[in-house]
Amino acid sequence: MRAVSVVGARPQFVKLAPLSRLLRQHMEEVIIHTGQHYNNNMSETFFTELEIARPDYNLESGSGAHGKQTGIMLERLEKHFVELKPDVVIVFGDTNTTIAGALAAVKMHIPVCHVEAGLRSFNRNMPEEINRVLTDHASDMLFAPTQTAVDNLKNEGLAERTCYTGDIMVDVLTRNIGLAEEKGEFFNKYPEFRKGDYYLMTLHRPYNVDQPEILKKILRELSGLELPIIFPVHPRTKKMIEQFDLKLGDKIFCIEPQGYLDFILLQKNCSGVITDSGGVQKEAYILQKPCFTLRTETEWVETTETGWNVLINPGPDPILERISGFKKPEIYPSIFGEDVSEKMVSHIINRIQTG
Ligand code: UD1
Ligand code: UDP
Repeated sequence: MRAVSVVGARPQFVKLAPLSRLLRQHMEEVIIHTGQHYNNNMSETFFTELEIARPDYNLESGSGAHGKQTGIMLERLEKHFVELKPDVVIVFGDTNTTIAGALAAVKMHIPVCHVEAGLRSFNRNMPEEINRVLTDHASDMLFAPTQTAVDNLKNEGLAERTCYTGDIMVDVLTRNIGLAEEKGEFFNKYPEFRKGDYYLMTLHRPYNVDQPEILKKILRELSGLELPIIFPVHPRTKKMIEQFDLKLGDKIFCIEPQGYLDFILLQKNCSGVITDSGGVQKEAYILQKPCFTLRTETEWVETTETGWNVLINPGPDPILERISGFKKPEIYPSIFGEDVSEKMVSHIINRIQTG
């Protein structure tokens, strides 16, 4: 049995780690990195820290407009699939890498397995929404992380291909959180920060960072918070801050993107998370941290329904007021399941064996 895992962007390396470890106990796995993310701290670091086998191939697609980037990946993936003749191709999440992997494989009649299927923001302006919908409809095995995802797939006529597995990020986070406390270096490197006395922020969505007036407003309002903000800056956001020549003030402490261990250490010890990331919203919930999501909607509706995650529309909403007025809910329901990779791998094996 041979599986090909297609990854290329930071959150996909995180999701790949627990699945790859287990897959390799049962079959051959080939990892193809599309090269969508390429900075050391957006790619290589994750393979090292999470002990993921080095990619067998790197397609070096790099950055670019959507069509060009996805097109390069499609062409190069197809060549490898012809040679490798995989029994299954596994894709993750909702990036351009995801849709390229799914589309190249399904056209060659290779079964496609989508990890994190069924998520919907119902906002078609997001490139990720288009990637998710198309990937789900192209895929044969739809691994749904939440009940809402299961329901979304059913509403689109995809119930038969759906498998409710829970969210794979639970596996990687629970496996590594102890290690992060032991090996994380952040608080040694930056002794001026005390555990519990800061917010952690990430931003990279185009509608927050590509428009100067929105990015300016976010940064200006957040400078009014009582606690400092630690801000590992995504390369897209760094580029925009430089391009718009924005000044961040002394409340917002910009650092390079962090490795996974230091990043989850920072999450575990923060007083709240401010983000527009999908994965970070989930991690904040699993670690029982208040999360302030700078978006108009979220795919992770369970986290907002329980009151742990607050949506703030960064244009019109008073960001500072919403964060300062937050009250921690008393109840914390578990949302994302456990032993998720086991469920996925047993499904994949079953599917390959039964055809
Ligand atoms: C991509 C995904 C997004 C995901 C995010 C995770 C798409 C359409 N978007 O967004 O869904 O949430 O990854 O982080 O697939 N850059 C570098 N070095 C890198 C990577 C990017 O400098 O290693 C810069 C380049 O200027 C590039 C820009 O960041 O143009 C955007 O990168 P890209 O991969 O196109 O989109 P992301 O915003 O990272
Ligand atoms: N992450 C990290 N270092 C950082 C920022 C994020 O290791 O400086 C991890 C984070 O723990 C999560 C994943 O990257 O597992 C989320 O990726 P990202 O926010 O880039 O993408 P999204 O989830 O929004 O697609």
